[in-house]
Amino acid sequence: MAIERTFSILKPDATERNITGAINALIEQAGLRIVAQKRIRMTREQAETFYAVHKERPFFGELVDFMTSGPVVVQVLEGEGAIAKYRDVMGATDPSKAADGTIRKLHAKSIGENSVHGSDAAETAKIEIAQFFSGNEIVG
Ligand code: CMP
Repeated sequence: MAIERTFSILKPDATERNITGAINALIEQAGLRIVAQKRIRMTREQAETFYAVHKERPFFGELVDFMTSGPVVVQVLEGEGAIAKYRDVMGATDPSKAADGTIRKLHAKSIGENSVHGSDAAETAKIEIAQFFSGNEIVG
């Protein structure tokens, strides 16, 4: 399988509980390498752009409020089949449906406060990475 890069966010519920290290350990144990990482406070504009695909959804306002409510850690993860692998490691969006051992099963509080985001496809990974990182910030 090809080496890929995917985009990850450790969300405000994770930074608030000081569990970013615990989540990074799960990421690394799965064989993914954190090749870029920074802690930022997302602006409303950044969050609205990032989640533009969900603009018409009833939870959009709540989602933007949450993602701007505290610091987040944005990351680029690299590894074999990284996009699908990270989605496996995260578990289902709704933590009550997430498999045992996944980040969301272990740490997420609810479908909204679900600790992590990961890209869903190669094209979105590319766009999401480019929104937050310039090429020289990613060191593989
Ligand atoms: P994420 O992978 O970041 O992509 C979109 C996010 O919308 C998703 O994780 C959830 O956190 C959030 N989301 C999805 N469904 C709901 C919902 N019903 N209520 C609130 N937030 C939701």
